[in-house]
Amino acid sequence: MAPAEPNHAPFKVQGEEPYFAEELEGWNGYIEWEKYPEKKKQAAEILSRYDFPVPPEFQLEPLPKTNPILEGVRWKYYHYAMGPTLKNVPEISWKYVQKEKSPDMIHVLEFPYNGEPPRTEITPNEDFFVRNHGGIPEIDAEKFVFDVGGLVNDPKKITLKELQDESIFPRMSKTASLQCSGTRRIEQIHEYPGDGDELINAPWAEGAIGTARWTGVSLKKVIKYCGGLKDGGKHVEFYGADTYFKKGNVYNYAVSVPYRKVKIHEVMLAWEMNGKPLPRIHGYPLRVVVFGFIGARSCKWLYKINVIGQPSLAPVQMKEYIYYSPQIGKHNNTYSNGFSIQTMPVSSAIMTPLNHDQIIHDGKIKLTGWAYSGSGWPERVEVSGDGGNIWYEVPFDKLSKKVYYSWRVWEYDLPVDAEGWLEFCVRCWDNALNASSPRRIAL
Ligand code: MTE
Repeated sequence: MAPAEPNHAPFKVQGEEPYFAEELEGWNGYIEWEKYPEKKKQAAEILSRYDFPVPPEFQLEPLPKTNPILEGVRWKYYHYAMGPTLKNVPEISWKYVQKEKSPDMIHVLEFPYNGEPPRTEITPNEDFFVRNHGGIPEIDAEKFVFDVGGLVNDPKKITLKELQDESIFPRMSKTASLQCSGTRRIEQIHEYPGDGDELINAPWAEGAIGTARWTGVSLKKVIKYCGGLKDGGKHVEFYGADTYFKKGNVYNYAVSVPYRKVKIHEVMLAWEMNGKPLPRIHGYPLRVVVFGFIGARSCKWLYKINVIGQPSLAPVQMKEYIYYSPQIGKHNNTYSNGFSIQTMPVSSAIMTPLNHDQIIHDGKIKLTGWAYSGSGWPERVEVSGDGGNIWYEVPFDKLSKKVYYSWRVWEYDLPVDAEGWLEFCVRCWDNALNASSPRRIAL
């Protein structure tokens, strides 16, 4: 087996260049894998011909001070190896980063693109965090259509125009946060250095969360339009047009949510973000937004909805974003002894000051941050300047408005009478009195 070329531009495919045709005219960078097992097999065979570079060493070393922090070389190779249809996707994706995101984003991973907002308060589209597992497909909205099938009485293909026709579907708008459960992964990586992640996982800090006003249609209305559920329909699976690589195999990005979430209008098919069409990088022309659930369920570049009897068996649902009981560690975990994360737990973080900032103070230091709960809203936020001994409640007028399924940003002028090394913490309670564990930063 020959090693993949260390110089990744341009990558040379060994043997004959493979060719996988685009699935649809007007959709660039979308290969349908899920319908064609033989095509998947062929892709796996091609991938098995290469020794791709080993995962980066950042788990054992400090992160580089570059921006982008990590490049994601292996993912670029995977795409190059699939031939002309996916080869340019890394380049195209980077073009959209530059076009659609603000220049001060912290690029935690160049490709697949993952980016955190700069440490400021609220999130306009250009600053909204991005979590991608693959490249950005270019889909022509005029030619866009998605399938609704599986356990529904009247499977249909629906165009964007139809979905936007208010005589068929009532429209909804909702302000809601999206949080990736990878938020603060860098702390987890530091807890278990070198001990596991075989993927190049973006070294997220506190920024994998953002809040936007989404506009679209409740998925329940779409299911109703398709004749309602057939007996046994309990979960709804979503497919995205991007190509997702896992352990030498290819897939389309796929996840599911239980129908009970759809039934209470907490799953939206959205085409607008903060009053503008969805940016390509956030799923244009159509994405799912699931309020209160882990961001992974909010499938971007949606092209297929499939009603099924059990949760999706796709790798993102079953093999990623899972949690374990305390007895399970990186040494003994398996996919089957974990549980898919769905509702996001309550959490809070300090956004400013940053770790190791040096501050000259006159008895007060301003802290800013966010608090969020996937089961409602944060009710109370407390901060400490001495590692968690004395706590101060953030007064309610220093917390942003309470909105169901949205974060509350906060600020507080913390009394500080010490000099030298300080440890700041934040904790919060949500409306059900679930508490978040304190988050520390030191300076
Ligand atoms: N949908 C597709 N098709 N592909 C992806 O890689 N990433 C998911 C989700 N939907 C993803 C996706 C994850 S893990 C998160 S946290 C959110 O999208 C992030 O949404 P954003 O990039 O718009 O902020």
